[in-house]
Amino acid sequence: MEFTVKSGDPEKQRTACIVMGVFEPRRLSPVAEKLDDITGGYLSKLIRRGDLEGKIGQTLLLHDVPNTLCDRILLIGCGRERDLGDTQYRKIVSTAINTLNEIGAMEAVCYLTELHIKQHDVPWKVRQTVEAAQNALYRFDQLKSKKDTERRPLRKLVLSVPSRRDLTEGERALEVGLAIATGVTLTKDLGNLPANICTPTYLAEQAKDMGKRYKNIKVDVLETADMEKLKMGSLLSVSRGSDQPPKLITLEYSGGKKHDKPVVLVGKGVTFDSGGISIKPADKMDEMKYDMCGAASVLGTLSAVAEMKLPINVVGIIPATENLLNGQATKPGDIVTSMSGQTIEILNTDAEGRLILCDALTYAERYEPDTVIDIATLTGACVIALGKHASGLLSNHSPLTHDLLNAGKSSGDRAWELPLWDEYQDQLKSNFADMSNVGGREGGTITAACFLARFTKKFHWAHLDIAGTAWLSGDKKGATGRPVPLLTQYLMDRCAEKQV
Ligand code: BES
Ligand code: MN
Ligand code: ZN
Repeated sequence: MEFTVKSGDPEKQRTACIVMGVFEPRRLSPVAEKLDDITGGYLSKLIRRGDLEGKIGQTLLLHDVPNTLCDRILLIGCGRERDLGDTQYRKIVSTAINTLNEIGAMEAVCYLTELHIKQHDVPWKVRQTVEAAQNALYRFDQLKSKKDTERRPLRKLVLSVPSRRDLTEGERALEVGLAIATGVTLTKDLGNLPANICTPTYLAEQAKDMGKRYKNIKVDVLETADMEKLKMGSLLSVSRGSDQPPKLITLEYSGGKKHDKPVVLVGKGVTFDSGGISIKPADKMDEMKYDMCGAASVLGTLSAVAEMKLPINVVGIIPATENLLNGQATKPGDIVTSMSGQTIEILNTDAEGRLILCDALTYAERYEPDTVIDIATLTGACVIALGKHASGLLSNHSPLTHDLLNAGKSSGDRAWELPLWDEYQDQLKSNFADMSNVGGREGGTITAACFLARFTKKFHWAHLDIAGTAWLSGDKKGATGRPVPLLTQYLMDRCAEKQV
């Protein structure tokens, strides 16, 4: 879809539809009020009759309103004015977009960007509108033979800004919103693809394509033999149970100066997690195709960063494998040696994410990183603790925690901190190796992070557990593209900080 920004009065817009807000109870937003005067009180009359209360989710479509040049006016319920915050704003935009798409208005001018939202400026609203609109329009129908596309879909959305002075910033915000939305879409597509298509080899091909698309991204793919040479015994213990060859994918984006230390993003790329010999129950096992969403978010974030040409160096590392079971598969009780030299007793083959991440984290050392962030659908316990609203965040460096929490807040892709205290380390004790790969049921998200912490002593590191946020179940089943907005925001904030 095409987006533009523009400043101008609603009555002068020659367009298929203009969109504006109505607050609860039956109160016109400032823009709608101005238009109401021009239409001789047409809008307020309808509202007074009780046609639109103004609750979030409500809409009212008007045709041929007097003294206007547009075909239609779409009024959108915005809830109570004092409650209008980030989440409400995104809901309002989704409702507007879905309605526009249904009524056959192929273009529209949207004045929702002029609503007043606490603590947010015009560029924020422009950007969020683009992201929310692209989210609302997203469909994954590439594998359906008959696609149910709208007859007259929305093609062009003009976002109104209050004055001409806002245009330059508004345009930059459009670009940012589009870059993030494109990254989110890539992440969703990869997540939604089934595991018979999206294999480790497929992920490696996608990364190579990105390397061709952006000239400052260099892609390298390590094969089994390379990993053997590097002594990645832990990662290889997971891939041994599958016929699909594992891949260790690296992407180096150079937007910063040559000697700027990079931020390294490590994404869990288990393209299907059956649990291995410690096999999972059948119910919902299909959802384990999403176990590569960490990897997909690394690709999505790098694509956003490359689109925006951020002045920063970022490295993506993706350990990609299946977790399956065959005659070679790792058995509970097996002991393996990780690339770091530390030995691991694998008591549960379903705790495979940490086994592939630990070697990828050791591999990250060669980039002499300033900061390393890993992203993984790591524990069911995180879904229990935080549900689908916040990603779990654990880190060995509190300024990094602070920056990530803030990036999550401002991008609307929130994380919540859990403690990474030493006391929890005891749960990983093994009688036969340096550590076990599981820490029991108590604090499962924390002990998983404690395991990773043993491989991240040489740098500032944060772990994002996205098991609850990377996809939705039920009738809205599908990948969410999170935490691409959070990660991209974090990298943008770093660039902004460097500039001042
Ligand atoms: N990929 C799963 C985590 C997961 C489970 C994500 C359910 C989303 C929904 C991970 O590999 C896993 O199986 N973790 C185990 C760890 C346990 C064996 C210590 C878990 O959470 O049950
Ligand atoms: Mn597992
Ligand atoms: Zn897993």
